[in-house]
Amino acid sequence: MNILVLNGPNLNMLGKREPEVYGNQSYSDLEKYLKSFEQRYDVTIDIKQSNLEGILIDLLQYADDRFDGVILNAGAFTHYSYALYDAIKSISIPVVEVHLSDLTKREEFRKISVIKDACIHSVMGLGFKSYEEGLKILLEGSEQK
Ligand code: DQA
Repeated sequence: MNILVLNGPNLNMLGKREPEVYGNQSYSDLEKYLKSFEQRYDVTIDIKQSNLEGILIDLLQYADDRFDGVILNAGAFTHYSYALYDAIKSISIPVVEVHLSDLTKREEFRKISVIKDACIHSVMGLGFKSYEEGLKILLEGSEQK
């Protein structure tokens, strides 16, 4: 399976941004962790990050037919980007929504995910492990086919 991990705005600031919420590990630590899935799960992992909504949409469209699934941390776009919702709906590969933090325990505006219904599943609150759970969901889905 070829998996695209797509990280949205400010995730490149991991380690510096709000360590009390997101931890001390850096974005490159996250990339190394994600790459470790390749051997452990016999998959290929491509990782992209952008702070720009349009680039994330372009990458989702590009991923269709080229990847078997997407693990998406849309950052704050999660809470208001109907354009990302439409992009996820318009492609035919499964997208799993992931978050490092538990959105249910944070500010009111974070409790709403406008992309949730376009995704096959949401995983949150497990730190880096949220991505691993997201991968497992994609792998389970592919076994059922
Ligand atoms: C986040 C949660 C979002 O609310 C926030 O804007 C982020 C990161 C998370 O991984 O917990 O940038 O998606």
